[in-house]
Amino acid sequence: MVIEAAAALSSKDLVGIAPLEAGEIQLLLDTAEQLLEVARRPIKKVPTLRGMTVINLFMEASTRTRFSFEVAEKRLSADTLNFSASTSSVSKGETLFDTARNLMAMAPDFIVIRHPNTGAPHRLAHVVTASVINAGDGSNEHPTQALLDAFTMRRHFGDLAGLKVVIAGDIRHSRVARSNAFLLSKMGAEVRFVAPASLLPPGVQELGVKPFLRLEPALEGADVVMMLRIQMERQKRMNFPSAREYFDFFGLTPERLKLANEGALVMHPGPMNRGVEIDSEVADGDQSVILEQVTNGVAIRMAILYLLAGGRSDAATDS
Ligand code: CP
Repeated sequence: MVIEAAAALSSKDLVGIAPLEAGEIQLLLDTAEQLLEVARRPIKKVPTLRGMTVINLFMEASTRTRFSFEVAEKRLSADTLNFSASTSSVSKGETLFDTARNLMAMAPDFIVIRHPNTGAPHRLAHVVTASVINAGDGSNEHPTQALLDAFTMRRHFGDLAGLKVVIAGDIRHSRVARSNAFLLSKMGAEVRFVAPASLLPPGVQELGVKPFLRLEPALEGADVVMMLRIQMERQKRMNFPSAREYFDFFGLTPERLKLANEGALVMHPGPMNRGVEIDSEVADGDQSVILEQVTNGVAIRMAILYLLAGGRSDAATDS
């Protein structure tokens, strides 16, 4: 057996971190810990989702999340179908609702959705019987990214409670920052948001985080430094003078990293813009766990699919 105890999540869907209980987050991380081992086998496959169909509905560009889900689904023996907006009838004006109704007529068990509009996965979850997983909706949430980030931190520190986590960059447009703030606060970590005032969201204090307008003071005593790119595609105008100036004030350099705790982890959800939010020496340095995040993402997505499938005890046997 791969999984020691059968368990499940309380909802049929995973649309955000906000609705999850701390116990459910713990269960997801514990399950991912057990599934991580599948990647080390010569045959990286278990029959958990055999006979089940997953539709990956990506209406926005993605490299990591889309491939990570597909790898996770294939390692769990699911049948996978990939849908992108540009090559589907969405490009002819079909709505998300009509697309979903047509896809449901093919009886999928899961729909993984990335969408530019906030709340699209939540609306989809209400109209389909399949389990819906949010792979990122607008600037709202990216729950599977926050789970893999937390999993990576927990693997290094043992516990999330008490960790001091700096999240720096374009916070205003970042679903990664929001989901991480929800998750890390629920688990007892301290979250510090760093950005120029124009890139902090309105009502930032309501997220339970400490806002900073400069990187240096936020780095003091930090255990984790997570850098975010500037999301130009979500901005009508530049919210800072130039990329060069942004790097001068907010870029993570080797010198600035020394202000954090010794051995602090450097994280980035990707895609990275080297020389804008992060120096290459840091991105590729000893403290960087950026590629480890990608590896861990597969285990987290396997855990989500496994638990949404009901954590069936017969589902995780060796192939
Ligand atoms: N982290 C993340 O969401 O990356 P992609 O946009 O490449 O999926």
